[in-house]
Amino acid sequence: MNAFTLLKNDHKKVAGLLEQIDKTTERGVKTREELFTRLKSELELHTEIEETIFYPVFEENEETRDIALEAVEEHRIVKQFLSELESLSKDEEQWTAKFTVLKENIEHHVEEEEGEMFKKARKVLSEQQIEDLGTRMEKAKADKPKAASAR
Ligand SMILES: [Fe+2]
Ligand SMILES: [Fe+2]
Repeated sequence: MNAFTLLKNDHKKVAGLLEQIDKTTERGVKTREELFTRLKSELELHTEIEETIFYPVFEENEETRDIALEAVEEHRIVKQFLSELESLSKDEEQWTAKFTVLKENIEHHVEEEEGEMFKKARKVLSEQQIEDLGTRMEKAKADKPKAASAR
């Protein structure tokens, strides 16, 4: 599977979870918790393979270095939000508000990734490199202890 397809599949899975969580309310704490746990492990694994396998290729390249560095910072914000959401009580209005902001952040990040970043990637990488990166990320995912991805 090439790198773009793999990452886009992950993005789709995340988008689906975000939509599902978005429909939960302060009264549906159990469902909310369950979905959030899946979202969190999905995102942890996804950001990890991007940061260790996909982004480094861009950091090495003058033309793409800044987008990769920005993307890492965006991941940092996402992870910060995830940890705050984890400790906040799921039946609070603040949780809902914070989740909405997280969702917007992720959607924006994915848009940039699939847009600007993939476009530049096609310019600086060969077909073979894109394929190899996909294979490496696929393997890294499979080697991780199964959490959300196994369900
Ligand atoms: Fe990312
Ligand atoms: Fe991504």
